[in-house]
Amino acid sequence: MKNQVTIRVPATTANLGPGFDAFGCALSLYTDVTFEETEEGLEITGCDEAFTGPDNLAYTSYCAVLASLSEEVRGVKIHIDAHIPICRGLGSSAALLVAGAMGANVLRGNKLSTQGLLNITNAMEGHPDNLAPAFYGGLTASMVDSGLPVTVSFPLHPGWEFLALVPDFNLATSLARSVLPEQVSRADAIYNISHGAMVLKALELGDEKLLRSAMQDRLHQNYRKKLIPDYEKIEALVRTTGAAFCLSGAGPTLLVMTRNPRLSGILREKLPKITERSWEILPLHVEFQGAKQIDN
Ligand code: HSE
Repeated sequence: MKNQVTIRVPATTANLGPGFDAFGCALSLYTDVTFEETEEGLEITGCDEAFTGPDNLAYTSYCAVLASLSEEVRGVKIHIDAHIPICRGLGSSAALLVAGAMGANVLRGNKLSTQGLLNITNAMEGHPDNLAPAFYGGLTASMVDSGLPVTVSFPLHPGWEFLALVPDFNLATSLARSVLPEQVSRADAIYNISHGAMVLKALELGDEKLLRSAMQDRLHQNYRKKLIPDYEKIEALVRTTGAAFCLSGAGPTLLVMTRNPRLSGILREKLPKITERSWEILPLHVEFQGAKQIDN
């Protein structure tokens, strides 16, 4: 059996506005993680020293999959080559969980299905909205039913450009979740259900006008924007361009969706005039393939 494998996992943007903890889309930015089984011990390279212990997410999901297979954890060397920015709302944690789960499964003979790996990692992450597109690629919606994630894929018009506006500061998802209310009004629940359905149709049709009004939310963005300096200024700027705007996952990255290929140039010129912080503009496209093994 092989003793080394490299898994490539795409970045993901979760929520897409109203689809809180449910919608997600895989994007063209990747983290590669290599697992090499050894006789004993754990060695993690390629990341900040703080993430080289046994609580590293790639290692915890690697161990969780081995446990579910009733297989022994031997030593392992893990090398992380991360191009997904960390703690920025682009699925960097989900990517490590997915890589660890797939890495362990490949090294021990591919006994679990992708659904099985999603079940295990969803129990660790607590919500499947980043994990599902990281495993399957494309645009997904997920629900958790009787404790298990169920995911379906949706069609996407090929003309969309995703512009990720990535700031030079982090926001921990735990903090971004801690500011959310435990209970919401019926009006807000109705607002999100109706807008969420429209988001999926607008993305399929490539209807920018519909997406701009559908991609609004009352469950999380209003509470989180105070944690993100410049949020309101940037949203106001994007709205003048006709593009759709939302928070990417729990933030702090902001996501702009447009059919206008010139928009990234326009934002590059205008953003520095309204903010003193550095916001990197990453033009991305949908990644239709999910996580995959990239070695032979
Ligand atoms: N749905 C999650 C959230 C995504 O918004 O908190 C980040 O993990």
